[in-house]
Amino acid sequence: MSDTLDLLIINGRVMTPGGLVEADIGIAGGKIVSIGALSGGAAAETFDAKGLHVLPGVIDSQVHFREPGLEHKEDIAHGTKAAIKGGVTSIFEMPNTSPLTLDAATLQQKLDIAAETAWSDHAFFMGGNHENADQLSVLEKLPGCAGVKIFMGSSTGTLLAKDDDVIAAVLANGNRRVSVHAEDEDRLISRQGIATDAESAEAHPDWRDVESAVRATKRIVKLARDAGRRVHVLHISSADEMDILAEHKDLITVEVTLNHLTMAAPECYERLGAFAQMNPPVRDASHREGLWAAVRNGIVDVFGSDHAPHTIEEKERPYPSSPSGMPGVQTSLPLLLDHMNAGRLSLERLVDLTSHGPQRIFNIAGKGRIAVGYDADLVLVDLAAKREITDEWIASKCGWTPFDGVKVTGWPMATILRGKIVVRDDEVLGEPSGKPVRFVDIMEPA
Ligand code: DOR
Repeated sequence: MSDTLDLLIINGRVMTPGGLVEADIGIAGGKIVSIGALSGGAAAETFDAKGLHVLPGVIDSQVHFREPGLEHKEDIAHGTKAAIKGGVTSIFEMPNTSPLTLDAATLQQKLDIAAETAWSDHAFFMGGNHENADQLSVLEKLPGCAGVKIFMGSSTGTLLAKDDDVIAAVLANGNRRVSVHAEDEDRLISRQGIATDAESAEAHPDWRDVESAVRATKRIVKLARDAGRRVHVLHISSADEMDILAEHKDLITVEVTLNHLTMAAPECYERLGAFAQMNPPVRDASHREGLWAAVRNGIVDVFGSDHAPHTIEEKERPYPSSPSGMPGVQTSLPLLLDHMNAGRLSLERLVDLTSHGPQRIFNIAGKGRIAVGYDADLVLVDLAAKREITDEWIASKCGWTPFDGVKVTGWPMATILRGKIVVRDDEVLGEPSGKPVRFVDIMEPA
């Protein structure tokens, strides 16, 4: 036992790649250097994790932080503070900013803002469309880039790659996994009247119906297959799509969100109106059950939050002029722990979907596992703590959550980022210290 440890976590129940063990964790230089019976050893700081489970920090591979250009909705400072309060140590941010993230300069602008203000580690997706398709094999390799993201159906902002020839051009340029929002734009346009004539957001899953999602998912699966390109389909919302995706697990990976797993239509729209409006929509309970079945049988690879805040004033506009999206980065882990306590998934599967899964599908370097040599990104959770999610707890600029008033069992008690305690008992500590996430696919020669 060396006396050079910066932090020693003792008495916790630790989720290692081999399963749950009673062990201490030694941390130095931001990395895990030892796991085992270490108590009694010298360290600059000791954290007694008695009664707590020590999990890898959550990696949320879908958030919208709106910088540059749309900071009135959310910014990197607020979004990453919300992340660490919710046990999330790394985020991947989406390219439907203003200007759209389509080039090296905009990516660099985001990295520069994050270098000053980010509380969590981070990477940024490059948007893919007709303008930049032929440059993507270079753009996807820029440091700090999480890969390419395309929107097949329009959502917030103007980023769109709706036609097969454009999508094929995106898939032909580059090698990393391409992330896809799969809703069929032509069908959305043809059904727009349903939204325009509607009296409330209850019509949202009717306008953007299951068939709109199924058509796009079928198209992207075929295009990925034709190109031999790895694709990640985001926020799958229907049981029908899971049946399609089950046939393509060698090439296609799958995300579900806590919104789709926790809420159901029509109840969520009756209660929350446009505050429950997102794309693709939350659907009825039979689809929610289909998504849980896909969590159980392994079709789903990762949980993402699709954290997409809009202001209260914007959400109060009459549907369909109300924008789509809800905050979620801070509430995912508490909701998941509650789902675990309700018997919907095991703690092992929870960790598989919040950290091991993102690491595996995005080839993240040195994060996502509690293992010697890995970054000491950890969340210490009390599985039995009973808490209430409230708007007051939310660190997002928007100041609201669709889960206000929801009582949960299970809560993140501390978040550790590269060996530094950044949140303890809901209090954010120190200064922003987030760094870009590194990827095996774009590792530079030394
Ligand atoms: O509901 C959504 N909101 N879905 C998206 O795909 C985008 C997001 C946003 O940026 O607001």
